[in-house]
Amino acid sequence: MPEHVLVTGGAGYIGSHACKALRAAGFAPVTFDNLVTGWKEAVKFGPFAQGDLLDRARLDEVFAEFKPVAVMHFAALSQVGESMSEPGKYWRNNVSGSLNLIEAAVDAGCQNFVFSSTCATYGDQDNVVLDEDSSQYPINAYGASKRAIEDILRDFEASNGLQHVIFRYFNVAGADPESEVGEFHQPETHLIPLMLDAIDGKRDALTIFGTDYDTPDGTCIRDYVHVCDLVDAHVLGLKWLQDGKGSRVFNLGTGSGFSVREVIDHSRNVTNREVPYNEGGRRAGDCTKLVSGSSRAVSELGWSPTRSTLQEMIADAWRWHQTGHYSE
Ligand code: UFG
Repeated sequence: MPEHVLVTGGAGYIGSHACKALRAAGFAPVTFDNLVTGWKEAVKFGPFAQGDLLDRARLDEVFAEFKPVAVMHFAALSQVGESMSEPGKYWRNNVSGSLNLIEAAVDAGCQNFVFSSTCATYGDQDNVVLDEDSSQYPINAYGASKRAIEDILRDFEASNGLQHVIFRYFNVAGADPESEVGEFHQPETHLIPLMLDAIDGKRDALTIFGTDYDTPDGTCIRDYVHVCDLVDAHVLGLKWLQDGKGSRVFNLGTGSGFSVREVIDHSRNVTNREVPYNEGGRRAGDCTKLVSGSSRAVSELGWSPTRSTLQEMIADAWRWHQTGHYSE
């Protein structure tokens, strides 16, 4: 009987890819999702338990039914811009929801917890190499909510022995190369899917948010990592915990940064199509540059990202964009 892993947000972009990777690694992923931003059609690799993290009784039921050996916690609101205009939503859903989940896990005796955090917890630190020991000064409510959850995990380790791996993601991109699952947000706010929509006329021209940043071409720089590489790290993180190696934080990025203009250039090359775009003002909450300066996941976890070239991420996203999507 494969071991159950509770995957919150398993109907979402990263969570659905994680379910596929978990099943391939011999686990039975149980998706827990309220379907507010996730898609039932994305739940393809194991059982589905619909529920909301703010509903503690439902969480207790699901832990009792499946007796998961671990939790992978992806469910969250994750739009930087929205978090600036509606911070209460982020503190309530992300922080209160995670606290419920952590308490339910501990009460059920499930002591292994893998958490999706973000490089947005570091904030805007020019010329600082962002490694796991860097200070965390988030500049948006999304990053602040994720940092708070990291603190909660540490407190529950101290009080209850909860073992946790925290992954701080840089910019996740790409899609399952077999197009079984992919990126589909409603509304979409991310650069690459918006650009692909603009390329094939599904929406208006892309707007570059800010061309006056202190970067070589004036646009923001990000470190893009392929979603399949990212979820592979989660499976390694789960095994790390099962091997009793203890709580640890890992950045997940490649260490290479690309500007918005460079992403546009690569998209033009991959798709052989023009990218319609215009130049606009800065978006609230955006950092100038976020690039991982750490290879801890490679050296300690044995992570080896194989698909994270910009070329491959855009090609996989483009294939998914053309062949697969969920019902609107
Ligand atoms: N961008 C544009 N135009 C758009 C959309 C994005 O110019 O229409 C720019 C943004 O300003 C940013 C870059 O493209 O410079 C990437 O933007 P995304 O919205 O794709 O990603 P973010 O960097 O804002 O956010 C992502 C995740 C967050 C995470 C963050 C950490 O969505 O969850 O990375 O950097 F916190």
